[in-house]
Amino acid sequence: MIRLTGVSKIFETGNQDITAVSEVSVSIPRGALTLLTGNNGSGKTTLMLLMAGILSPDAGRVYLDGMDISRLPERIRSRIRRNRTGIIFQERFFIRTAPVWQNLVLSLIPTERPMADIRNKGKALLRRFGLEEKENVRCGRLSGGEKQRLAIARALINDPDVIFADEPTTHLDHDVLQMLTREIQNWKTRGKTVVIATHQPELLNAAGPDIRLTLEKGRLAREER
Ligand SMILES: Nc1ncnc2c1ncn2[C@@H]1O[C@H](COP(=O)(O)OP(=O)(O)OP(=O)(O)O)[C@@H](O)[C@H]1O
Ligand SMILES: [Mg+2]
Repeated sequence: MIRLTGVSKIFETGNQDITAVSEVSVSIPRGALTLLTGNNGSGKTTLMLLMAGILSPDAGRVYLDGMDISRLPERIRSRIRRNRTGIIFQERFFIRTAPVWQNLVLSLIPTERPMADIRNKGKALLRRFGLEEKENVRCGRLSGGEKQRLAIARALINDPDVIFADEPTTHLDHDVLQMLTREIQNWKTRGKTVVIATHQPELLNAAGPDIRLTLEKGRLAREER
């Protein structure tokens, strides 16, 4: 369902080009849980943003259910993201001065669903992630672990069938980590396709990964299924 063929991404920085992702080809079937590992700077975030259609590759193609999303205009890619994908970003991109609930439901606003529906959906997710008492708190006031939980909740607001998570275990204490593990198992049971970038793959063993991909300097160095 997610297929990459010869995908490369090069960042131009001043006088030096950085090849963040280099000729990666891989297929991830629908419903699989994939862990993407590798050292800092090995290209995990970049590869995930390419899979999610947020970045466009400089070479190669990215297919979602056979559709080449690497060639679509941003307008259409953003619609696909809004309808189908949930993304837990490593950089969390909250509006610091807006309350928790607004940050949570922001991506639903362009869908023109009734506001009461949107608020109810938001409330249910806040409850699920133990944030109901923070509903009206400004995002900038949350602790690291609370922000991480909100980032996970936000990725689920549109009930996505593809979920990308970039270092979701950062800042989580033992209890919340167990909650995340149960959450991931629940995604699997419901047939969601999940890709998780992490440099702590051992923390997520209990979630039962199907595929392990290891990046080294942008290249796919190992693929275990
Ligand atoms: N927007 C950008 N502009 C320039 N260089 C970038 C950009 N994004 C990433 N890079 C570079 O690309 C390489 C891969 O970065 P990436 O963030 O994908 O790594 P990562 O595996 O996610 O690292 P980490 O474990 O630290 O999250 C790094 O050398 C990084 O400096
Ligand atoms: Mg990263």
